[in-house]
Amino acid sequence: MQIIVAPSLLSCDFSRLKEEVEAVEAAGADWIHLDVMDGHFVPNITFGPALVEAVKRCTKLPLDVHLMIDNPDEYLERFIQTGADWLTIHQEVAPHLPRTLIRIKELGAKAGVSLNPSTPFSTVIPVMEMTDLLLIMTVNPGFGGQKFIPSVLPKIREAKAHIEGKELNTKIEVDGGIGLETSPLVREAGAEVLVSGEALFKSGDYRKTIEQIRGSKP
Ligand code: DX5
Ligand code: ZN
Repeated sequence: MQIIVAPSLLSCDFSRLKEEVEAVEAAGADWIHLDVMDGHFVPNITFGPALVEAVKRCTKLPLDVHLMIDNPDEYLERFIQTGADWLTIHQEVAPHLPRTLIRIKELGAKAGVSLNPSTPFSTVIPVMEMTDLLLIMTVNPGFGGQKFIPSVLPKIREAKAHIEGKELNTKIEVDGGIGLETSPLVREAGAEVLVSGEALFKSGDYRKTIEQIRGSKP
């Protein structure tokens, strides 16, 4: 399985946004992960569609937009218009998941659903066939630089077994506390897309860190 590494811009130097995006692209990143927070669903506020649009103009890489917001249905169109190639909403704030996922696809993006650490995989089994990306949070969403929660690993294995059993194309993504020590654990459990914020942006060498997270043999 080809591992996809998606730097989370939350930990980049925002005063040098364009250079940071270009630097991770040049260093071998596969996707760019953008964390949208509203101060309601999570206790932090980040940015909205205007920044997604600005990042779109800096890179050819797919934009992986992670909405940590209440009422995501009201904003799907705006984020896809401004450049989201993959758009992920949270299960915990999407009461009509099938409708939301179908709408994302109709608008032209790949549809993702995310689970907080305490939300079981069983809550998304009914929609797995229409889910392109299952984002399993490995920290409680809201902030970069938090500690990886190892008790989430069985959920990754459970999702992987389901996807293989049903022969689905859904990719499993993990987000939160992914770095040199935790990336082998999530890769082994079945994760294919690895988001990394602080571990990557605080490292001195983006290329080396991306390759280590990817697990490439030297
Ligand atoms: C957390 C965000 C993550 C976060 C990851 O709420 O969804 O994308 O930025 O950052 P690290 O890798 O620092 O945990
Ligand atoms: Zn994220």
